[in-house]
Amino acid sequence: MGTLLDFLIWVRVKLSVYFSILIHFCCNLENILSIKALKGFKDILPDEVGLWQFIEQTARDIFHRYGFEEIKVPILEKTELFVRTIGASTDIVEKEMYTFADRNGSSITMRPEGTASVIRSYIENGLYVRGSVQRLYTIGPMFRHERPQKGRMRQFHQMSVEALGSNSARIDTEVMAMAWQILQEIGLQASLEINSLGCTACRPSFKEALQGFLQVRIQNLCEDCQRRSSTNPLRVLDCKSEHCQAQYVSAPSITDHLCGACSDHFEDVKQTLSLLAVPYAVNAKMVRGLDYYTRTTFELLTTELGAQGAIGAGGRYDGLVRQLGGPEVPGIGFAMGMERLVMLLSQKDKIETRPVLDLFLITLGETAYEKGFILLQMLRSQGLRVMMDHEGRSMKNQMKQADRQNAGFALILGENELVNREAVLKDMHSGEQELVELTPAFEDWAGAVLAKIKQLQ
Ligand code: HAM
Repeated sequence: MGTLLDFLIWVRVKLSVYFSILIHFCCNLENILSIKALKGFKDILPDEVGLWQFIEQTARDIFHRYGFEEIKVPILEKTELFVRTIGASTDIVEKEMYTFADRNGSSITMRPEGTASVIRSYIENGLYVRGSVQRLYTIGPMFRHERPQKGRMRQFHQMSVEALGSNSARIDTEVMAMAWQILQEIGLQASLEINSLGCTACRPSFKEALQGFLQVRIQNLCEDCQRRSSTNPLRVLDCKSEHCQAQYVSAPSITDHLCGACSDHFEDVKQTLSLLAVPYAVNAKMVRGLDYYTRTTFELLTTELGAQGAIGAGGRYDGLVRQLGGPEVPGIGFAMGMERLVMLLSQKDKIETRPVLDLFLITLGETAYEKGFILLQMLRSQGLRVMMDHEGRSMKNQMKQADRQNAGFALILGENELVNREAVLKDMHSGEQELVELTPAFEDWAGAVLAKIKQLQ
């Protein structure tokens, strides 16, 4: 009896030890596994990458058709660059920048947008000497510490363009037509809203009218708008509070305050957009969230992404280059949010974007595998996309892999094939099979396979 009791106690002690080890292991496992991406930062997985590449390649092609050249600028810049360009009292600068002290104590910021960096580079590298008009584009990640939601990330990607050196309204129209064309060619629909924010000559009278309007309602506005009504009144029109926006419905319109030159410019933009059959609507309340804009501003909007309806936006910034210490050079540009484009496209019919494998090389037996491994490299040098199995799997399994990889052809190379000096080439879509003659000269094999593939295609 005593021994049974001892045994049960022993079992209980052991079990509790094992149990606590298990719990400890699970807790640690959770710790190990729980390192996740930062909130608002997202991985772009292999299955999604095809759509990204499709969008980027379509846009690049169109940028080149319009004469734009790529520029790559750093992700980190001095904080002051963004404060001076985007504006100290904008949401981006006041609330959203990833700003920190560098190891030497200087304040640096992860770029929240691309324009400021491109203009800095344009001035620093004297790009204006390359020609009077410079058309530049850049593609890459931007960072804003916003509240993440559908279509709004903390790291997001923009394709942005800047046309520097022309005052002509035709450039405004070209740039908007280009944005429109990108959407058309990737198969998305949006509406284009445009406005004019005037210039240094006419904006003061609008500011005054707006300040008068705000003064009467100051008690009903959010804290930000109360403060900005005196420091930077245009910014209130960009407020995210629905309560504030409801009151701004009857606010004065900038388009009623444009000077003659700005008014003519805006008319020219509207007429030439119609000339190119780019549909638009004027939205006199659109001020954009960045301070550098003058004259034409625009947004490409969709109703399919909830609150984050802007898939692209931009405008003219005639004083920006001068303001950053460069020459008197006008500019206009826009940026498209790639996450939003991808989201819209993935809601539509599936676009086949996975890279297609030309050939899967199936080998059976050690000698065939060794020969096949070298042939693999030779076929790749011939420009084919080829893969093979290294795990010694069965013929059936290797055929399955070829299927899964969406391979156009499978080349079967076994010991018999080596003896008979011919390999079987199978068209994976039609099922048709052909023999490829394996000549005594091994270096000719890749050419023979390639020729047979071309013959079957
Ligand atoms: P923006 O309006 O701040 O303009 O941003 C342009 C586009 O970037 C937006 O329309 C949106 O599609 C995308 N975007 C902005 N923030 C986010 C976010 N948190 N998550 C996902 N997508 C976002 C600019 O950045 C100007 N630099 C455009 C420009 C170029 N103006 C003249 N040249």
